[in-house]
Amino acid sequence: MRLPAPARAVVWRTGRRAVDWSAKKLKLASYVPLYDYREQLDLHTTFHRDARAVRDKRPSTVDDADFDLTLTVDGLEDVLAGRDWSGKRVLEVGPKHGTHSLWIDEHLEPSELVFSDFASDRHFHEQWERQLRAPHRWVYGDLRSATELHELEPFDAVFFLGVLYHSAFHLPLLGMLNRVTRLGGEMLLETTIDPRPDAAVRIRWQQGTGKAKAVPTLDALRIELAWTGWRDVAWFTDYRPESSEVVLLCRKTDDLDDGADVVDVVTPQRQPA
Ligand SMILES: C[S@@+](CC[C@H](N)C(=O)[O-])C[C@H]1O[C@@H](n2cnc3c(N)ncnc32)[C@H](O)[C@@H]1O
Repeated sequence: MRLPAPARAVVWRTGRRAVDWSAKKLKLASYVPLYDYREQLDLHTTFHRDARAVRDKRPSTVDDADFDLTLTVDGLEDVLAGRDWSGKRVLEVGPKHGTHSLWIDEHLEPSELVFSDFASDRHFHEQWERQLRAPHRWVYGDLRSATELHELEPFDAVFFLGVLYHSAFHLPLLGMLNRVTRLGGEMLLETTIDPRPDAAVRIRWQQGTGKAKAVPTLDALRIELAWTGWRDVAWFTDYRPESSEVVLLCRKTDDLDDGADVVDVVTPQRQPA
């Protein structure tokens, strides 16, 4: 239950006094975490909660047969309902098993479908590529340095599902996607998030698998998106609500200037000489 603002203020002040008192007794320092970025987010971004039903309530993205898929095709259909993404230029990053790719191919009939992925995943791609009907091409290598993408016509729509947290280079990846998408173009993004209420990217080194991950909180992700020119975001709150994963629809609101890694509304640490 959310308390009214005056009651929240009383609870906050009482809690703060208790923390200060206990900290002093324990000879510790207490401080208020910095949430000042929220003002910047309110000022410069649009964030909308879209509560439509999304047919994906799985407890995990991995099924009994060890098949890993971020968003079911039914869920994909739900989040894209009402958007006209047919016949557009589409980029999909990390298609892997091709589940979303084949849906895009059949239902959106893109004018061109471009894939970005590591060449080491070719053996996955070979299993489904022949089923594609749309003109398509591959740009192999790390997305963040896939310069061949700059030579193509800008994309109208981007699918960036289950990829972001595999890399520590969130800003270069989102910045690259900004540069290859037309102004007003849209990106469907799925990622694991850290559920804590601050703005942090936590680096994980998973026990057992040894996998490295860089997992943003939702606020950190919102800041990363804003910095890289995706300042209009809708969050599909019904996507696997019990999980630590989110699906966001992001609209490109700003072009990144040549050589810049943040957009104009953000003051860079170093001003250009
Ligand atoms: C967990 S799979 C996601 C598969 C599928 N998109 C889905 O939503 O279920 C992550 C995919 O992203 C690709 N990938 C990860 N980092 C990447 C990068 N920096 N550049 C291009 N592809 C990347 C991997 O090769 C893999 O195919």
